Amino acid sequence: MNRPSAKALLFVLTAGIALENAAAGDRELGQYLSSECVTCHRVSGQNAQGIPKITGWPEDQFVAVMNAYKDKQRDNPVMQTIAGRLETGDIAALAAYFRTQK
Ligand code: HEC
Repeated sequence: MNRPSAKALLFVLTAGIALENAAAGDRELGQYLSSECVTCHRVSGQNAQGIPKITGWPEDQFVAVMNAYKDKQRDNPVMQTIAGRLETGDIAALAAYFRTQK
């Protein structure tokens, strides 16, 4: 019987961690991705030129709104383009990050 190699074990482990992060929303990834968003949406939550506040939202609502832009059900060319480039895991990560910002 062959013992599984350390490499194979490591792969299974990291794959498991990656999946878990995607499900929960990886805040670190969210913070990284947020740099694009905060050029328009202020982290302080204050509206700049009428751009809505996106901090402190429940994650499921945030994800739903982003998917509505992505699927072009919600009308805004800028946000449609931005959301269209994001993967499911990216959106979850952004939701997790912005929820915790005040
Ligand atoms: C170029 C400026 C710009 C950038 C960059 C930008 N947004 Fe937006 N965003 C807007 C504008 C303008 C709206 C309002 C659109 C509308 O009326 O539907 C909006 C709306 C939203 C909304 C809905 C807010 C609400 O109250 O309904 C969310 C959520 C959102 N953006 C998330 C993001 C995320 C996440 C990013 C980064 C990945 C991002 N935005 C990047 C300009 C921007």
